[in-house]
Amino acid sequence: MGKILVTGATGTVGSSVVKSLAHINADFVAGIRNPAKAKEKLGAAVPLVSFDFADLSTYAAATKGVDRVFLIGPPLDYTLDKLLAPFIDYLKNQNILRVVYLSAFGVDKISNELTFHKVVEEKLKADGFKLTTLRPTFFAQNFKNYEWDNITKYKITYTPSGSGKTAFVDIADVGEVAAKVLTENGHEGKEYVLTGPESLSYYDAAALLTEVRKEPITYPAPTPQQYTETLTQAGVPDFIAPYMITVYSMIANNQVDHVSQVIPQLLGRSATPLKTVLLQELA
Ligand SMILES: NC(=O)c1ccc[n+]([C@@H]2O[C@H](COP(=O)([O-])OP(=O)(O)OC[C@H]3O[C@@H](n4cnc5c(N)ncnc54)[C@H](OP(=O)(O)O)[C@@H]3O)[C@@H](O)[C@H]2O)c1
Repeated sequence: MGKILVTGATGTVGSSVVKSLAHINADFVAGIRNPAKAKEKLGAAVPLVSFDFADLSTYAAATKGVDRVFLIGPPLDYTLDKLLAPFIDYLKNQNILRVVYLSAFGVDKISNELTFHKVVEEKLKADGFKLTTLRPTFFAQNFKNYEWDNITKYKITYTPSGSGKTAFVDIADVGEVAAKVLTENGHEGKEYVLTGPESLSYYDAAALLTEVRKEPITYPAPTPQQYTETLTQAGVPDFIAPYMITVYSMIANNQVDHVSQVIPQLLGRSATPLKTVLLQELA
């Protein structure tokens, strides 16, 4: 067996995949753009290789001895499919066909311009890859990663999600699933929806944050228009609000209100509750 290349290795998901692969002593290499950031995020012992989707000259060294790839694209990029396509073509040409792709739960329901995950999945299937698709729902880590200031400074959690629900998933669970499917047989052709153990609204999340922070945190349930105005006033680039409104409309429209049993089935234990992650990251 060859090595595993982990793309996006310095990111939220990728670093969790790296941690889980290291834990089971798997043969892998972390594809990274910034060695200093990678060492800080992943530790000095993790094998690193330069890799940039946008720089074809990095592909050969990054895939030396590799026969499996954890493939993930960065967030907030409307043209993600175009960023990933040259690397997918390269993998196909090199006959490196075993790919675990990090997509998202609900992408099949988004009908407007956020179609990149669907396009990537369709390309991987059409090109004959031995594909496993991971479909996590909204990350429990979003509260720390994207809402730290809202929560700690303004005492709110602020997304255009209405009163809809989703079962926020812990990225540590996603990393463990990814490591398992990358190192075991039997997962080719599978699509795994990954969720936490209970469906929660942002009102529920605000109640948990109130408990964890030991101070009142509220959810003002902004309409898409109010959300856009707030982001504009805060000087956030214009493309962010429509992207987020589309993403969060999946919660608002009850399209991702679902608890999957894949994590318990694959890991032999319960999925981690949102409160556990909030206690780790926001207490
Ligand atoms: N947040 C959610 O709730 C959620 C839910 C479901 C699915 N998703 C999906 O998860 C993905 C985002 O994952 P994440 O949260 O782990 O992202 P993240 O923390 O922002 O990390 C992004 C990673 O991609 C790397 N990267 C960026 N541009 C690159 C390039 N041109 N070439 C190679 N690597 C590049 C970054 O490297 P540097 O460190 O060098 O910048 C970083 O390692 C998106 O596809 C999103 O749709 C998110």
